[in-house]
Amino acid sequence: MLSASDNQLLTQTARGTLMGDYLRRFWTPFLLSSELPSPDCPPVRVRLMSEDLVAFRNTDGHVGLVQAACPHRRASLFWGRNEENGLRCVYHGWKFDITGQCVDMPSEPEASNFKSKIQITAYPTIDKGGVIWAYLGAPEFTPELPQHDWLDLPEAHRYATKRIENTNWAQALEGGIDSAHSNFLHASVASYRRDPAWVERAKNAPDLRTRYHALDRSPTFIPTSTDYGLRIGARRDAGDDGHYWRFTHWLTPYYNLFAAAGDAPGVNGRGFAWVPIDDNHSWTITFAWNTHHPLTQEDITAADDFAGPTIGESFFPARNSTNDYMIDRDDQAQTTFTGIAGIQAQDMAVQESMGAIVDRTLEHLGTSDTAIIMMRRQLLAQARAAAEGTEPYAATHGDVYRTRTSEIIVPKDTVLDEATQSALCALDS
Ligand code: FES
Ligand SMILES: [Fe+2]
Repeated sequence: MLSASDNQLLTQTARGTLMGDYLRRFWTPFLLSSELPSPDCPPVRVRLMSEDLVAFRNTDGHVGLVQAACPHRRASLFWGRNEENGLRCVYHGWKFDITGQCVDMPSEPEASNFKSKIQITAYPTIDKGGVIWAYLGAPEFTPELPQHDWLDLPEAHRYATKRIENTNWAQALEGGIDSAHSNFLHASVASYRRDPAWVERAKNAPDLRTRYHALDRSPTFIPTSTDYGLRIGARRDAGDDGHYWRFTHWLTPYYNLFAAAGDAPGVNGRGFAWVPIDDNHSWTITFAWNTHHPLTQEDITAADDFAGPTIGESFFPARNSTNDYMIDRDDQAQTTFTGIAGIQAQDMAVQESMGAIVDRTLEHLGTSDTAIIMMRRQLLAQARAAAEGTEPYAATHGDVYRTRTSEIIVPKDTVLDEATQSALCALDS
């Protein structure tokens, strides 16, 4: 559990709040590059940490991110004309470049220099890895981009998609860190009941994760604090084979990394960013990549299936709270643990049911929640330290993000020390 005041500090992200100011020390992924596909394409509405903004790709191909409200009489620049390296308000024609400078004011006399005095909020952006990133902090603290594994891969090796989740960012992130739930929420009835045919199939599965992950559903979680956040070791009993260790990661402030089943961990990656839209909504940005070969259509379909179908071309999940995530009680009785189709829909059903901001004073946390407890403590400590003038180390050391998921089987009497764990997960090893 968390005190009511810490719960507030953890979850509030508007400018001027403890966590909001901490999160603004990092580059924030907020848009898929494909949402602004070409120069002078239509602008996109953006809400980020409760700030209403508009993103546009100018004639030169650079992305601007500016306040939504026109400074003249507050009409939305979302309606704007994106032309000749600027966004022009459709109300009276004022025009702004990507730095936020007013560059044209046709409603004023030609001799007027009023436009030179008008500057709107504008944030720097980077378009990289199929994602557009913004920096909402003070210029003197400009951070480095995190050196995620997938960031420098050729386009064909990576894929990103996103969905809106109707919960606070920390709640969504906690769902990502909480790997104990996969044996339940995402399980089949056969695996949950230890159906003998299923046990036999799992024992002979080609990948270690399927083989051992399902067979021991109360693993020992051993999280370790690192420069980037937490390395979370899950140790499972692998019977005569020894212990099966699998490592996932929380990377500050809102990323987590694990591996898709099948290929070797670290090759076939899955990552998430849980980015605050406002305190009651977040983006779940899903990254899928393969370091060794281009993604196949099958890989992309798997990532889309994981994220779930959307309503039309939007990022709103088709399975959502208004239709009870299309739960099928017959399917729940016979086939899947939840009766809800799709991993992300299953996650959202439980996370959104807790309320947009869960009351953490009412929780009863167990041993499987150790990583979540450590993550909360670490985030609050770092945010408090940042407020007192200590630079968040990871924000300016993008290289600390060079980590990957990993797995190993070791004899039961083997102690996996920190250095070994760290080496197993080092991207450059
Ligand atoms: S409100 Fe935008 S130009 Fe007048
Ligand atoms: Fe999940």
